[in-house]
Amino acid sequence: MSIPQPTTGTLRLGSKAPDFQADTSNGPISFHEYIGDSWTVLFSHPDDFTPVCTTELGAFAKLEPEFAKRGVKLIGLSANGTESHKAWIKDIDEITGSHLSFPIIADADRKIALAYDMIDFQDATNLDDKGVQLTIRSVFVIDPKKTIRLIMSYPASTGRNTAEVLRVIDSLQTGDKYRITTPINWVPGDDVIVHPSVSNEEAKTIFPKFRIIKPYLRLTPLDIESK
Ligand code: BEZ
Repeated sequence: MSIPQPTTGTLRLGSKAPDFQADTSNGPISFHEYIGDSWTVLFSHPDDFTPVCTTELGAFAKLEPEFAKRGVKLIGLSANGTESHKAWIKDIDEITGSHLSFPIIADADRKIALAYDMIDFQDATNLDDKGVQLTIRSVFVIDPKKTIRLIMSYPASTGRNTAEVLRVIDSLQTGDKYRITTPINWVPGDDVIVHPSVSNEEAKTIFPKFRIIKPYLRLTPLDIESK
């Protein structure tokens, strides 16, 4: 069995998302052109017509309006061809009640999967019929500057959590707008943390309602008056 190897240096948070041309269920794309001025979630699944993947793609499709509200485009990927993707999308819509309209990349030769390191080396059950590794469940959140802002890797056996993907996007976008970070399990509306680079003097004017729990932990609501 040949073991595919990543084709680029390791992608890290802050890396530029590699550009590529690809066929998708919606026709050919150039990835950076597809991103345009939007945020983008690029996510892979192991295989078309498989159970966990069907539930995931249906759930992402049903949440497309929530992603769009945040200026985020979705794009899927697996090592299957476009005809397979198109036939499977009909099943996904029938089973989950979705109207899946975002493109799914056809990456049968795993060129993009290898560039994005979406292949693992430990799951002997996640192979195609030739024994070559399929993709894992990777999520890349990419911002409008094409910078990778989040990487998640899930094994084939475990479906992802769409609410967590949206939650991280909310955190990243809020952190880009205000000088804050977000605590454990934060969701919009919860108190945020004043960024360590903001002095108490500055915080008094930017976040009038901030409170000091410890010198290194300062919380504030993030409402209209306190930005
Ligand atoms: C699934 O989607 O159920 C699945 C796909 C590949 C390997 C294991 C599970």
